[in-house]
Amino acid sequence: MLVSVKDLTRRYAGQNRDVLSGASFELARGESVALTGDSGSGKSTVLHLLAALDRPDSGQILFGGRDISRLSDPAASELRRGRIALVFQQFNLVPALNVADNISLHARLGQQFDPQWADTLVSHLGLSDLLERYPDQISGGQQQRVAIARSLALRPDLLLADEPTGNLDETASAEVLRLMLDLVNRTGCALFLVTHSPEIAAQCDRHLHLSGGQVRPAGS
Ligand SMILES: Nc1ncnc2c1ncn2[C@@H]1O[C@H](COP(=O)(O)OP(=O)(O)OP(=O)(O)O)[C@@H](O)[C@H]1O
Ligand SMILES: [Mg+2]
Repeated sequence: MLVSVKDLTRRYAGQNRDVLSGASFELARGESVALTGDSGSGKSTVLHLLAALDRPDSGQILFGGRDISRLSDPAASELRRGRIALVFQQFNLVPALNVADNISLHARLGQQFDPQWADTLVSHLGLSDLLERYPDQISGGQQQRVAIARSLALRPDLLLADEPTGNLDETASAEVLRLMLDLVNRTGCALFLVTHSPEIAAQCDRHLHLSGGQVRPAGS
């Protein structure tokens, strides 16, 4: 298993209930898994814990056999510069950098920039003609494709995505998802995707659902 999550609990300060109360699930290498759940059910919380942006109150998150649930902040940053990448609904592109530099930014910072792989991503994601443009000169769907290229430029083992197509219309959303699944398949990277859309969830290898603080296979 790439990731084994066991019995996670999380309660935010000032709240009188656990957002997560014994959430457990696993992710295999190379598989795509969707997580659905009502608004406020804790999906982003799960994602933040997997990215070590947040720490659980109890439970374990094994990533490649190593418990990442209690990492120091520097060790967590290290993990996100290399093996775990994130794509959010807000694209978080750097406005002062053109598309080419946005794509290579994180990989260069992590000293893992591979120009050939970047070219593959750019051509596959249809960004070849946009490299010189700035984020405010391209569409939302194009910005999201740049954000995906930037994440995959790191060749992560795990791509975490929180509503990555939430800001896009249906056509752009289907296209971005198709490209993301295809690239993930090619690299053997696992994808963990939070979505509100049952259609999107159905296109992943597995569909998990979060309710009552627990994660179960959808429909069970
Ligand atoms: N930093 C925080 N401090 C206090 N409460 C929080 C914090 N972050 C989230 N919560 C609360 O925890 C619960 C779960 O939030 P979370 O963002 O994980 O839900 P979600 O499933 O991602 O929702 P959505 O689909 O609307 O994005 C919500 O009730 C939310 O208000
Ligand atoms: Mg959320």
